[in-house]
Amino acid sequence: MKKLNYRADFPILTTQINGEPLTYLDNAATSQKPQAVIDALTHYYTTDNANVHRGVYTLAAKATDQYEAVRDQVAAFLHAARREEVFFTRSATDSLNWVAQTYGDQFVTAGDEIVVTVMEHHSNLVPWQQLAQRKHATLKYIGLTADGQLDLADARRQITAKTKLVAVAHASNVLGVTNPVATIAKLAHAQGAVVVVDGAQAVAHVPVDVQTLDADFYAFSGHKVYGPTGIGVLYGKYALLEQLTPAQFGGEMISDVDWQTTEFAAIPARFEAGTPNIAGVIGLGAALTYLQGVGFDAVQELEQPLTDQLLTGLSQIDGVTVYGPRALADHGPVVAFNLAHLHPHDVATGLDMAGVEVRAGHHCAQPLMRYLKVTATVRASVGFYNNSTDVERFLTALQAVKEFFHV
Ligand SMILES: Cc1ncc(COP(=O)(O)O)c(C=O)c1O
Repeated sequence: MKKLNYRADFPILTTQINGEPLTYLDNAATSQKPQAVIDALTHYYTTDNANVHRGVYTLAAKATDQYEAVRDQVAAFLHAARREEVFFTRSATDSLNWVAQTYGDQFVTAGDEIVVTVMEHHSNLVPWQQLAQRKHATLKYIGLTADGQLDLADARRQITAKTKLVAVAHASNVLGVTNPVATIAKLAHAQGAVVVVDGAQAVAHVPVDVQTLDADFYAFSGHKVYGPTGIGVLYGKYALLEQLTPAQFGGEMISDVDWQTTEFAAIPARFEAGTPNIAGVIGLGAALTYLQGVGFDAVQELEQPLTDQLLTGLSQIDGVTVYGPRALADHGPVVAFNLAHLHPHDVATGLDMAGVEVRAGHHCAQPLMRYLKVTATVRASVGFYNNSTDVERFLTALQAVKEFFHV
C-alpha cells in the first residue's frame, strides 16, 4: 500500500503564520521543499562541493558526476530522446528568453507571425513581444472558449503559413486548464512553425513526454516542482539546438579559443556558459527523485479531490466568481476567483490573518486579466501535500472575510 500522506516530509508545514497553522495554498507560485531536497543541498555543500567539468581531482569528478546524472534524470523525466537535449538555466523565464534570443533572433524575420495564447504568463509573452518588435514580426493571440479553455477553432485560424513560432503554456497559472499541446504542435508543424511550451505549471502535476507532445522546446523551473529556486530547465530538439548560436559566451562552453575566433563545445555544454548552479541542479535531482517516488498517479489521486473540494466550496459561497472551466474533469489544481466587489488584496490579507496563504493580483498575466475584464483575482492552488483540512480552513476563512466586509 502506497502512503498517501506526505505532509511529514515538508518541515515548513508544521510552522505557524499569525498564530495559526500554516495553510499553504500558493503552490502555483512556488512549492514547498521536502526534507530530501533540503538534505541534498546541505550534503552537497558539506561533502561534495567543487566546480564541475574543469577539475581533474576526485572532488571535482564527484560533483561533475552528480551534476551530469541530473541531466540524465531530467531527460528521462521529460522523456527526451537524448540527454544532450536538456540544459540547465536559471528558471522557466530564463529558458523562454533564451529561445527568443537564439531561435527567435536567428530565424524570425520581418513579416513573420508569432502566435501565443491570451492565457500566457508574462514570461511566455513579453519575450515574444520584444522579439516581434525587434524583427518587425506580428504577434497574434489564440483566444478562449466561453468555458475558459483554449479555443482550438481560433488556434486553427491564427496559425497560418506565415507563422514561424507558436508559444503555449502546458498548463495555465490562472485558469487551471491543461492545454492540448500535441494538437497545437500538429497545427504549428503543418505550417512549418516551431512550438515552444511553457511547462512551469505542468511539471509538478502531470507526467510530461516531450516526444508525444512533439514540443520543439519545453521550459520549466525547479522551484515549482519541489526543487530549489534559481534553477531551470530547457529541453530542445537536438536538430534545432544544432542550428543555434549560443546566447552567452565564456568558460566551459568552448572547445578551442584562438586570438580572434572560438570553436564552441558540443551540445549541451555549448549552452551552459560559466559556472552553473551546481547545488541547484543537485537539489532539482533530489526533488525529481522525491516526486517520482510519490508518483503522478498518487499526485493526481491526492490533488483532484482537493480541487473538487475547492470548486464545490467556492460555488456554495454567494458572490464568488470562479474563472476557468467549472467541470472538475477540465480543471487542474489552480483556482482563480473573486469575491463580489472586494479587491483581491483585501481578500488575501483577510485569509492571511487565518494563516491561509494564497496569491492575489494579476498573476503575471495582465493580458488575460484584460480578456477576463478584471484587474486581478485571488488564486488558491494545491499541491499533493495539502489536505482537506487546508481547504476547509481556506473556505472558513473566506466566509469570515465575507462577513467582515458585509458582502
Ligand atoms: C505559467 C508560468 N510560466 C512561467 C512562469 C515563470 O516561472 P519563473 O518565475 O520560475 O521563471 C510562471 C511562474 O509563476 C508560470 O506560472
